[in-house]
Amino acid sequence: MPATAAAPVVLEGRNLTMRFGGLVAMAEVDFTLRQGEILGIIGPNGAGKSTLLNIITGLYRPSSGSVHLAGERIDGLAAHRIVGRGIARTFQSSRLFGDLSVLDNVVIGRHAHIKSGLLDAILRRGRAQAELHAAAEHAASLLKAVSRDLYAQRHRPAAELPQADRRRLEIARALASEPRVLLLDEPSSGMDDADTDALMADIRALCAQRPDLALMIIEHDMRLVASLPHRVLVLDYGQKLAEGTYEEVRAIPRVQEAYLGRKGARHAHA
Ligand SMILES: Nc1ncnc2c1ncn2[C@@H]1O[C@H](COP(=O)(O)OP(=O)(O)O)[C@@H](O)[C@H]1O
Ligand SMILES: [Mg+2]
Repeated sequence: MPATAAAPVVLEGRNLTMRFGGLVAMAEVDFTLRQGEILGIIGPNGAGKSTLLNIITGLYRPSSGSVHLAGERIDGLAAHRIVGRGIARTFQSSRLFGDLSVLDNVVIGRHAHIKSGLLDAILRRGRAQAELHAAAEHAASLLKAVSRDLYAQRHRPAAELPQADRRRLEIARALASEPRVLLLDEPSSGMDDADTDALMADIRALCAQRPDLALMIIEHDMRLVASLPHRVLVLDYGQKLAEGTYEEVRAIPRVQEAYLGRKGARHAHA
């Protein structure tokens, strides 16, 4: 039994359904995520993996079902409120501001904690500047903790970073909002094996530093899926196909079929 089995549930999805016109992208999916747990989400292309993250983070409002963070219902809240409640994410495709420095990209990730509104910024510049200064200090120490290498490059424009460092920076930016739940959408995409190994080491170090942080990781690299998550949830055509440890789910024939049986019909994004 994993050590997380007794930890409190931090995030829960109940009966989640998402329709886009006639397309059912997600059908009655339940999931739970406990403090300190890493949940892997796998499934072929178009299975509904990113849709699930979009529902959790408030980008999509589910057609039915609900999402609960520490027992409180959060579906229907605006995306920035959900960040404020403690859920941060990265995206499948980069959302970095390439022209801005590495450090400024992390400062932007902290905006949920910068309280000064526009009026404040105009009327009381002092307070706004103090908050910005504090955010920059926090961002710098966070960068240092995530990666010395990234910290050393903090004044470079983000666009100049190699791909693996850009992915690392996106994780640092998500962490800047001080989340209790971190959602990663295909963090190793575009990485070679060496970069993926470094990413796994980074994630392990992060979890060691923050034992209460809960993670959901959408992944297609089976080396990562086999070694990082405590549990794996398999989606296919918007349905929950299986759930369990990697060893358990890989032994299930319908999971193998989803990945192997339709290689010709669909790109098996495994
Ligand atoms: N905003 C949207 N509008 C219409 N269809 C969407 C939208 N978002 C996702 N879909 C559809 O939902 C299905 C699941 O997509 P997605 O969650 O991105 O899959 P995955 O991340 O597993 O590859 C796909 O058929 C996709 O085209
Ligand atoms: Mg996706």
